[in-house]
Amino acid sequence: MVALGADHGGYRLKEAIKKYLDEQKIPYEDFGTFSEESVNYGPIAAKVGHYVVDGKAECGILCCGTGIGISIAANKVKGIRAAVVTNEFCTEMARRHNDANILCMGGRVIDEETAVRLTKIFLETPFDGGRHATRIAQIAQIENGEL
Ligand code: RB5
Repeated sequence: MVALGADHGGYRLKEAIKKYLDEQKIPYEDFGTFSEESVNYGPIAAKVGHYVVDGKAECGILCCGTGIGISIAANKVKGIRAAVVTNEFCTEMARRHNDANILCMGGRVIDEETAVRLTKIFLETPFDGGRHATRIAQIAQIENGEL
């Protein structure tokens, strides 16, 4: 299960990603927005973030104009590691090294075709673990006020 969300700036990317997930028969939950009318990204990021940390989805995908605002918002949910990406390399590393559980992209930065390509990489790339697991644990320590 993939949790999806976008504001108006990311709406078109989200719709292209949905089409890809439909074709691949990958289940998703769409938390909106459902048009290009202006909305605030914070509540949508929060819904997707909580859905992921509650274990209702394995991961999330969030899109706004740049991917930045919605990623900052999602990263406020404890346990979320949201990564803004624009290319294949960063997407692969976000999974292999950072164990990112939310992928963020910008509708004013990349086109739909790229967003779908990056979605595929994100969903198919595993976490490397090992030394990177230590680093992820330290991120959790920061969240818990231990670092
Ligand atoms: C909305 O205009 C825009 O600010 C938003 O989509 C996003 O880019 C924020 O980071």
